[in-house]
Amino acid sequence: MSKELIEKAKEKFGAIIEDQFRRIKKIKEDTEWVNYARLKPVIIGLCWGDGIGRVISKHAQTVLSHVLKDEIAKGKVIFRDIAGLTIENRAKQMKAIPDDVLEEIKSCHVILKGPTTTPQTGDKWPNIESANVAMRRHLDLFANVRPVRIPREGIDWCFFRENTEGAYLLGSKGFDISEDMSVDFKVITEPGAERIIRMAFEYAKKNNINRVTVVTKSNVIKATDGRFSKTAFRIAREYPDIGLDEWYIDIMTAKLIDPARSKEFKVFVLPNLYGDILTDEAAQLQGGVGTAGSANIGKKWAMFEAIHGSAPRMVKEGRDKFADPSSMIRASAMLLRHIGFPGSARKIEMALEVCGQYEKKIIITGRDTGVTGEEYTQYLLSWIDNPELEEKWEIGDE
Ligand code: IPM
Ligand code: MG
Repeated sequence: MSKELIEKAKEKFGAIIEDQFRRIKKIKEDTEWVNYARLKPVIIGLCWGDGIGRVISKHAQTVLSHVLKDEIAKGKVIFRDIAGLTIENRAKQMKAIPDDVLEEIKSCHVILKGPTTTPQTGDKWPNIESANVAMRRHLDLFANVRPVRIPREGIDWCFFRENTEGAYLLGSKGFDISEDMSVDFKVITEPGAERIIRMAFEYAKKNNINRVTVVTKSNVIKATDGRFSKTAFRIAREYPDIGLDEWYIDIMTAKLIDPARSKEFKVFVLPNLYGDILTDEAAQLQGGVGTAGSANIGKKWAMFEAIHGSAPRMVKEGRDKFADPSSMIRASAMLLRHIGFPGSARKIEMALEVCGQYEKKIIITGRDTGVTGEEYTQYLLSWIDNPELEEKWEIGDE
């Protein structure tokens, strides 16, 4: 019996490895980056998401349309509504992303995506794969870039989370070998590690930052994390002005909240799952996961989203209108910067910091103790249009 099971497992494992060889070949062939300046018009796809996503994505679109009104009027930028990425439709079609929806997504250049519900064992949905993870894989969005800034504490971090490999690559391809045993896989490839590490170093170089921190558990997970770490040290040799230090993920979660250390870190590069975990911690320090945005960047497409989920509990308790739209609005700013509107992006980011960290004339708490997302969006817009924004942002708390 067990011999048969082993043979079956070997067969499945063989098919998985074959897939990965194909994937590596594709990564090596895909060298060209899209040039947004050449696209006329730039098409922004809007996926509203589930739960609070449906509410906060609308607020983000309000801000985007506001700052892009001239470009929209001139036809340089258009929005495309993608309605089908809902948990109901995905469950009906039993697909993480239904084929027609994926085609619509691919017809756009960049996507603004609200949080989508990820089914889990035991809930009412079929246990299909997460739409985020599937989209990252289908569009090869290999870089998950997550900035976290707390100016009053001197914290200015940028996380480069590898977004298509690691523990996530085969997350939906693990299997039960027998009644008593389940196996998942973790994969790190050389070109997969190299492209994200290179992006982190390029970011450091462009921003005059002389340090990059790689986070692994390479002392224990020797093959995959070991490769990630070795690749980082290899790439680092090409950047003699930038130092590279390696931290293990466990101590990193502690040092991130150690005031004696935290502001020394600037640029982080990490495998997928560690990036997932550490960026939630970082976002909490900035004011909560509701304040953090996330860019998922590939060579052909890019997708921008909140770092948090769809918060079904908030919807059930009737609190969705009080959800903080800052995460999606910050994601919109990242989208703008990515397609070539750094001025508008900066204004939005400054307004988010003035409203959320300094002035705090009104506050959003996620409950009726604070304002609604719509009121908060209006507050942000009033600062985005305020000629004193830059000055107010510079003086910060004073
Ligand atoms: C994130 C989220 C996703 C992830 C979930 C929703 C699949 O937590 O974007 O960080 O784990 O990557
Ligand atoms: Mg996460």
